[in-house]
Order: sequence, then structure tokens, then C-alpha cells
Amino acid sequence: MKFRYTKSVPKNNDNATAEILKAAANPKVISFGGGLPAPELFPVEEMKTAADKVFDKYGKVVLQYSEAIGYSKLRKQIIDLMKERKVEVKLDNVGIVTGSQQAIDLIARMLLNPGDVVITEDPTYLAAIDVFNSYGANIVGVSMDDDGMKTDDLEKLVKKYPEAKFIYTIPNFQNPTGRTMTEYRRKKLVKIAKDAEIPVVEDDPYGAIRYAGNYVPPLKHFDRDGGVIYLSSFSKILAPGLRMGWIVADKSFMNKFVMLKQNADLHTDNLTQYIVSQFLIDVDIKKHIKDITHVYEHRANLMVKQIDKYFPQNVNHSNPEGGMFIWVEVPGVGDTNELFKACIRNNVAFVPGSSFFAGDIKPGTFRLNFSNMNDDQIKEGIKRMGKSIAEILSDNKY
Ligand SMILES: Cc1ncc(COP(=O)(O)O)c(C=O)c1O
Repeated sequence: MKFRYTKSVPKNNDNATAEILKAAANPKVISFGGGLPAPELFPVEEMKTAADKVFDKYGKVVLQYSEAIGYSKLRKQIIDLMKERKVEVKLDNVGIVTGSQQAIDLIARMLLNPGDVVITEDPTYLAAIDVFNSYGANIVGVSMDDDGMKTDDLEKLVKKYPEAKFIYTIPNFQNPTGRTMTEYRRKKLVKIAKDAEIPVVEDDPYGAIRYAGNYVPPLKHFDRDGGVIYLSSFSKILAPGLRMGWIVADKSFMNKFVMLKQNADLHTDNLTQYIVSQFLIDVDIKKHIKDITHVYEHRANLMVKQIDKYFPQNVNHSNPEGGMFIWVEVPGVGDTNELFKACIRNNVAFVPGSSFFAGDIKPGTFRLNFSNMNDDQIKEGIKRMGKSIAEILSDNKY
């Protein structure tokens, strides 16, 4: 059968990212590739207890169909989580999604016609790039520095593309760079977007995992007219296999969002929503986040120390204050897909920078994940990468 696919389906089956992750899945390979949390930190026993309670108390309810907007008790608990993040919201503003990835997809479906402009940080989250491309978007990147998206450049772009459909940003411990946007730039971004009447999609799966620096409120905190759509998730603070995230948005936007959500999957898994809600009653989530943050802080510091020891002296790397990623630039290395091949020969993996750029690819760049590997793996893996970088640099000389 010859299927007549829509434009959403990529023309060829080349999926560079999947190939990279496949190569990294070899058990001999130390992988800094995926954005995976540490499985040893998953609260398995507590989840099991919560699940037992849910089956005992609500067995017949949780196995039934439910509302597309999500379980109201869990949404109320999210109102409390949002209060801690300095965002005051009402129940109508909160919806449960099947991972924040689903919200990214549904928002793109709601706002993008082929050829529409989306403004993002450059580099940005690769699965968001894939989603926006699948709706035929024209992705326009804004350059970044250590303070996050350069809002002066954003201001110029917004003038050039006044019809842009939305600005997509990850202000905290950005994927892939690990960088955090300053408060000054957050306020400025919200103002630029408001003046230009362009909505902002604020993607914040990592914000709760802060181990250094001072807390900076989300863009949503500075939003007075409902232009900021805020997304977050239980994936990084509890477990990604739950597929449980949330959206906070203006009520009129939420009404339409929920209609599309219903088309997509009727509702997020009811059983899991109840289990997460029960878990939040039983367990001190703040303490749990503190515990995982502590481990990630240690791993991030260790990785930075090893980079400074084994990578060339002129290396540039981000110094994340939280989250799971370090962004590295090694001058002279060129295409980091070549470095990737050398690293695989030495049984270590990462994600080349090319996967994350909507615009021009910056040579010598790549993303390292530190949350999923233990101390020995970080020490040995960075040493192997240092060796691979030296091989590439000496090849490039000739
Ligand atoms: C920036 C960003 N947004 C969204 C997601 C998707 O998260 P979820 O598991 O909630 O779908 C990820 C996952 O890595 C991410 O890094």
C-alpha cells in the first residue's frame, strides 16, 4: 500500500537523534546523551503505596473515563505548587496533560498554520523543534548568552516578524544549554511580547531543581494580561514514565485547549492522576525535590571539574544553577557529529549541537547530561571524551 501522508510526516526515515540515542544505548557506552533523570531516585515504594491506596479507595472511579481537563483534586494541588513558584491561579486556569510534550504539541496545533513564525531560543529543545516543524512552522531563533535569550535581539525579531504566532522559551536551566534567564530579561521579554501582542509559551520542566544562585520567578509571575502560557511537569521531579504534566493559561485559551486535548486522547490516564495526587498527600514533595537536587548538584559539579581537567584549556562550558545539562563549546572541533563517532569508538556518548539549532549550527558545540550517570561513569566518561576530542583536534590539524 502506498500511503499518502500529510505534510506532518517527515519525508524520509532519517532520524538523527534516534540514531544517536540508539548508539548510546549500548551497555558498554557511558551515555551523557539522553535527558534522563536518575532512576535510583524514583520514589518506587512511595508510588506503590499511593497506588494501593488509590485502588482501595477509588478503584471503580479511576478505571472509568474522566474529564479532559484533568482530576480536580490534582489540579488544586498544582495551584499550591504554582503558589510556591509565585504564580496565583484559579482552578479554571489549570489543566493536566500527558507530559508537557503533549501541551507543546497541542499548542502548536492550536496556533500554527504552515509557514507561521515561531520564535525560540537558539539552541532549543529538540523535540519542540520537531513538533513545530511538523506543523510547517518557520522557526526563527534568537541568540543566547549566559543570561538566557538576548532580549535586544528578540525586540528586533518581533519587529521583523510582527505576525509571529508565539515565542517559545525555557527560562530555567534551559535544555540544551543549562542557562537561566535573568529576572531583568524575563520582565523585558514579557513586556516585548505584550506590546507586540505575541503569546509566550514558557516551558519549565526543570525550574524546581535549583542547586545554586537565587530563585527567579517564572515569566508567568510577571504576566498581567494572560499572554503567557506556562507548562511544567512531574517528569523531572518524580518520574517521566508517569507522563504527567500541566498547563496554566488564560481561561478562554484553556477552554479551546481542552477541546483539542479531548480530540487527542480524551484525557490523561485517570489512574496515574489519582496516584500522583495521593503521592502528593503522602509524601513531602519539597523534601523529595531537595533530595534529588542534592544528587544532581554533586553530579553537575563533578562533571564541570572533570571537563576542566580533561578538555582543552580553551573550552567554554555553561555553569548550570540547576537542571540536568551542561552546554560545551570546544573551539577547533568543527562538526560535533564527527566527534560523536570518535566518542562512540571510545564508548562514550553525548548529543551533538546540530540537533538543537533552528538556525545556523554553531560548530564545536554539544550537550552533556549529568543526571543519569554515577560518579565513576562521569569521571571515566569525561576522560574518554577528552581523549576523543584530542584525536579530532589532531586530525583537524592535517
Ligand atoms: C524543555 C523540555 N520540555 C518538555 C519536555 C517533555 O517533558 P514531559 O516528560 O513532561 O513530556 C522535556 C523533556 O525532556 C524538556 O526538556
